[in-house]
Amino acid sequence: MPYRAMRESLNAVVDSLSDGILVTDKQGNIILYNRKAEAFLGIQGKAALGQPVQNHIGNSVLVSLITNTLALDLPYHTEEVCLIDLSDIRLRVHVNPVRNEDGLLIGSVTLLHDVSRLSAIDNIKANFLSMVSHQLKSPLSSTLLQTSILLDGIVGELNDKQMDLLQKVKNRIKGMVDLIRDILDVCFIEEGGYLKQIEHLDVAEILKRTVELIQPQAQDKNIALHVKIDDNLPVISGNRSSVEALFINLISNAIKYTPPGGKVNVEMGENAQNVQLEVTDTGIGVEDVDFPRIFDKFYRVRSDLTKNISGTGLGLSIVKSVVDAHYGTINIESKVGVGTIFTVLLPAKIEALRGNK
Ligand SMILES: Nc1ncnc2c1ncn2[C@@H]1O[C@H](COP(=O)(O)OP(=O)(O)OP(=O)(O)O)[C@@H](O)[C@H]1O
Ligand SMILES: [Mg+2]
Repeated sequence: MPYRAMRESLNAVVDSLSDGILVTDKQGNIILYNRKAEAFLGIQGKAALGQPVQNHIGNSVLVSLITNTLALDLPYHTEEVCLIDLSDIRLRVHVNPVRNEDGLLIGSVTLLHDVSRLSAIDNIKANFLSMVSHQLKSPLSSTLLQTSILLDGIVGELNDKQMDLLQKVKNRIKGMVDLIRDILDVCFIEEGGYLKQIEHLDVAEILKRTVELIQPQAQDKNIALHVKIDDNLPVISGNRSSVEALFINLISNAIKYTPPGGKVNVEMGENAQNVQLEVTDTGIGVEDVDFPRIFDKFYRVRSDLTKNISGTGLGLSIVKSVVDAHYGTINIESKVGVGTIFTVLLPAKIEALRGNK
């Protein structure tokens, strides 16, 4: 087929795609896009060809995804995926670097997939889940309280067998209450609840209260929980209940995955305009291969060491969402059988929280 005809039929194929596609050169100039991308991004005809992306794409998240992919030029395979909202449509965006045969970066390719309908269905499901969880929370919490009253012997002595049975009932109910708390935290974050309630936070005070709340868990397991908080920490703007959930999940994991007699240290200080939280334990540790997955929803490490420890695998996904929403970072260092360190950096004085999930 002659070159011109081949080019025309290629253009026709690209134009017929149901997804938007946008290609740039290494400098970030737009060199190709199809009709769908034109419609999504509001570009008029072929006016954007040869122009820098920032001149024709109004959405700053999308522009920075593309420019970062080009500027960072990471040696390994990278793909940026995120959701962006453009007026009344929601797009799932994939940005990939384009490399030539020698592996040299020559540009970027962006795929834009309309997920508005899927998002709407997702919202309905999330609302349903949130409603059911709310309805279950109060009766389960009060049943938990009542079993505690029975176990404390306040309303009459129980024999050993009754105590044993009731303790099992209490543990099961506690598991359900924890699950519901996790689901409600996830729903709150996914509904963007934190965006509606942002305040200046004294993180040191939140951490102190969290530790008071968790201290009994550590005592029950004979784990020494030490806390060191530096004075005069910067104030951060954020969402109180999300930050509480972040602290609770990291510290309770450290206690949960550390055998009796171990140590958990919590340190909070300032690090280059960030509040830095470090949670160190002497627990079972996490293997390197599991690092990328432990922040996924419902992911739990399966091994002989974890098989008797209960949980839903939502805790660290909540932690990661909260860290992302506050423009922070989280890092894990761990050695199996030695212990784990989670380090969180939360930048001070952020003006706005991340709106895109
Ligand atoms: N401090 C830690 N030490 C060792 N393993 C850990 C630690 N924190 C997390 N993990 C591993 O990561 C997995 C995911 O943690 P995550 O907090 O998300 O879930 P979970 O603790 O299993 O359940 P929950 O939703 O009740 O928190 C855990 O199942 C565990 O295997
Ligand atoms: Mg957990």
